[in-house]
Formats: sequence, structure tokens, C-alpha cells
Amino acid sequence: MSDEQTTFNLDPSDIPTAWFNIMPSIVQAGMQPMPPLHPGTMQPIGPDDLAPLFPMALIAQEVSTAEWIDIPCEVIDIYKIWRPTPLVRATRLEKALDTPAKIFFKYEGGSPAGSHKPNTAVPQAYYNKEAGIARIATETGAGQWGSSIAMACKFFGLEALVFMVRASYDQKPYRRMFMETFGAECRPSPSTTTNSGKAILAEHPDSTGSLGIAISEAVEVAATHEDTSYALGSVLNHVLLHQTVIGLEAQKQLTMAEVDPDIIIGCVGGGSNFGGVSYPFMADKLSGKKDYRFIAVEPAACPTLTKGTFAYDYGDTAQLAPIVQMYTLGHDFVPAPVHAGGLRYHGDAPSLSLLVHEGHIEARAYGQNAVFEAAVQFAQTQGIVPAPEPAHAIRAAIDEAILCRESGEEKTILFNLCGHGLLDMAAYDDYSNGRLPEMEYDPAAETEALKTLPVVPS
Ligand SMILES: Cc1ncc(COP(=O)(O)O)c(C=O)c1O
Repeated sequence: MSDEQTTFNLDPSDIPTAWFNIMPSIVQAGMQPMPPLHPGTMQPIGPDDLAPLFPMALIAQEVSTAEWIDIPCEVIDIYKIWRPTPLVRATRLEKALDTPAKIFFKYEGGSPAGSHKPNTAVPQAYYNKEAGIARIATETGAGQWGSSIAMACKFFGLEALVFMVRASYDQKPYRRMFMETFGAECRPSPSTTTNSGKAILAEHPDSTGSLGIAISEAVEVAATHEDTSYALGSVLNHVLLHQTVIGLEAQKQLTMAEVDPDIIIGCVGGGSNFGGVSYPFMADKLSGKKDYRFIAVEPAACPTLTKGTFAYDYGDTAQLAPIVQMYTLGHDFVPAPVHAGGLRYHGDAPSLSLLVHEGHIEARAYGQNAVFEAAVQFAQTQGIVPAPEPAHAIRAAIDEAILCRESGEEKTILFNLCGHGLLDMAAYDDYSNGRLPEMEYDPAAETEALKTLPVVPS
């Protein structure tokens, strides 16, 4: 029996008591985040413009210049159900790869919904409850976010209405059932219940949907119902902020393991798990204290960071959501229905986009067969079946570890295993039986979608 420690656990008293806000570090490093614009006026958006969609406490976090924001006790009490999450050294994977690299992963799959998404669903539901809101409308891609908001709403006595991207609704019926178990209403998107959904269906009756379309439907419901707020599972500053509990805990655990990572890796849909694990480390890189490498990984079917354009674009398909500066494939772009439904978003978080644009983060894209090959190797060595989304991060971690084998370098790699894949087994079945098409994106569809970028006043 080896006495080598492979799991690094914290006490409940180690759960962070404040979230870390990267925005001051970005500004201090000389970068200039551009303000979000109102989709109607194209002018910088103010708190009052956002008030029909979000409670004021979240709007304040969205524009906050404070480095630390206290986490309410009520939220920490619920975090204690699954936090702190473990940091694990993947020694069995290292052995299988015959690499001198040390591979660590932070495991967020032990949360009730099975991913990192409850880290922000709980505070979002909490602040909505405090503001007297009765219902939250939202979108979900893979179903992980919808599951998380369903649970969080139930905990705080709110109703939840979830528009689930059609491709995922069909691929993952157990996610719908999970949401319904918590009392949420789940509709396939595009739906016939909103103007945005009806407009898409009129043009594309067989639409597989996209996060951009589902966001439009949820925003429309929130904007037209006084008692309903909108909640977003990624992209916005306050969402990435809430996810920094991941990186803050990981910093303590890596100190326990007596290592400092050379490379930090996460998958990117809208950027929240990537920002969550990496931003506490990014602050040290931006201030010149440390020299970490960051790798953001996305699907080849939706290559926002690697093939997109850095520009102002709408956050949703129907042009109802704020316009933000980000990498985008165009808000009309509908990615192929790959199994990593949580990564099928045309844009990315503005903070993450800026950091990629300024060269602080590398980005890469993989096709789904290479991703599932890595996922299966990980499952067979470490015993955890990963969700298709973090399997992208695993692919990159394995590739970096193989490079270490070739160069003989003993690098330390940290990646975020942001969700389990136990409700994604149909995807594994497709992979194992050779039914997984290698879905590359269509550059012509991107060119077409980019024609509809908003023309913003300079
Ligand atoms: C398991 C999982 N990982 C990653 C993502 C991508 O989102 P983000 O980039 O915000 O972490 C999702 C989104 O639904 C998800 O469900």
C-alpha cells in the first residue's frame, strides 16, 4: 500500500467567506474592459436598465470595483452541503501516461446537481429572494445549470422556469426529470411560448436550439413579468465571481500538497468554471508575482475563442440581452449539437475574452472523439466518469502531460473537473459504438452570423 497522499480535503471552516473579483486586477494591469451597452440605445448600460432583469445586489456585484465581496452566511450554510470540494492528485492517470508531470484536479462533481453550477445558483436565488422576487426564468444547455437553479429556487421558496436547449432536452431526459423533482418547469427551446421562440421556429421548424436562443426566451419572460427575474449561469462578472470559491479553495489545497501549478486548465462554455478555478491565480500573474500558464479549452464545433472575432455582440439571439465586448461567432450562430451542450454558446465572458485577447490565456479547441477518448481514459484510471464539458479540460491536461513525458519536464498541472457525466451516459454509448460524428463548425455559418454584429457608436 502506498502512503502517498492523493486527496487533499479542507474543513468546512475553510470555505471562503468572500468571493474574489478579478476586475480590479485587470484594470491595474493596464487593460480596459469596455462597458456593456443597452441593446436598444447602444449606450452604456446603467443599473436602472438592468433592474427589470436582476436584483440590485447582483447588479452591484456586476459592476463592483472591490477586490473581495463577502459571501452571505445563508449562502455559506448551503455551500456546506457539498463544499469544500476535494483536490485530487491523479496518480493513476499519471502512471498510465508514464509522465513525470503531476496532475491535480479540483472536483466539483460532488455537488447536488453534479457540477460547479450550484456555486452561483445558490447566491443568485438568495439575492432574488431578498429582493422579493417570486420566480426566476433561465436557460440551460447541458441541464447542469437548470438543475442547479431548480434546487436553489426550491431552497429559497422561489419558482423556476427553465428553457432547455432542444438538443440537450432530447439527449438528456433525466436532466428534465431532475429539474422537475425540484418543482421547476422545464420547456424545450425554441418553444412556442415566447415571441423569440416562435420567430426561430417559423424560420427553422427543426431548430436544435442554442444557448443564445434559450437566453432570449428567458430574458423575454423576465422582462415582461414583474414578479420574475432572469438568471444567467455563466458569462457575467457576478457569475464568474461566485465561482472563485473553486480557485480559492484550490490554492489552500495546493499549499497542503506543497506544490504550485505551472499550468491551469479549464473548459469554456461561457467561462464561469474557467474563471472560477483560474482567477485567484490570474491575479498573481497579472501583478507579476507568479508566472502561470492558463489554457482555456472549447469544442471544435463552437470555437469561440480560437476562431471567433473580438467585438461587441448581443448576448442572445433575439437581441434582447446586453451587448458586450467578447469573442463571438455571431449571436445567430447555432453550433452543431455536440454532446457538450454546456459549451454551445456563441460568445464568452467579457473578462475572459479580454484576457485571451491580451495574451494572458491560451485557447485551444478539440473535436468530440478526441475529447471522449480522454474522458474514457480518465474514467478507467481515476474512476470518475466526467461530464463531456470538463472532458475537454482532461484532453488538454493529458496532452500537456504527454508533452512532459517527451521533454522530461516535471510540470504540475491543475485542471477543473467541473462536473460528473452520470446523466450523460448516452454520449458515452455513442462514443463507444462509433456513432459520434466529428462535428466541425461551418466557417460559412460564422461569416453569415458575423454580418449581424451590432454597429456600436465609437
Ligand atoms: C458540466 C459543465 N461544465 C461546463 C459548462 C460550461 O459553462 P462555463 O463555461 O460557464 O463553466 C457547463 C454549462 O452548462 C456545464 O454544465
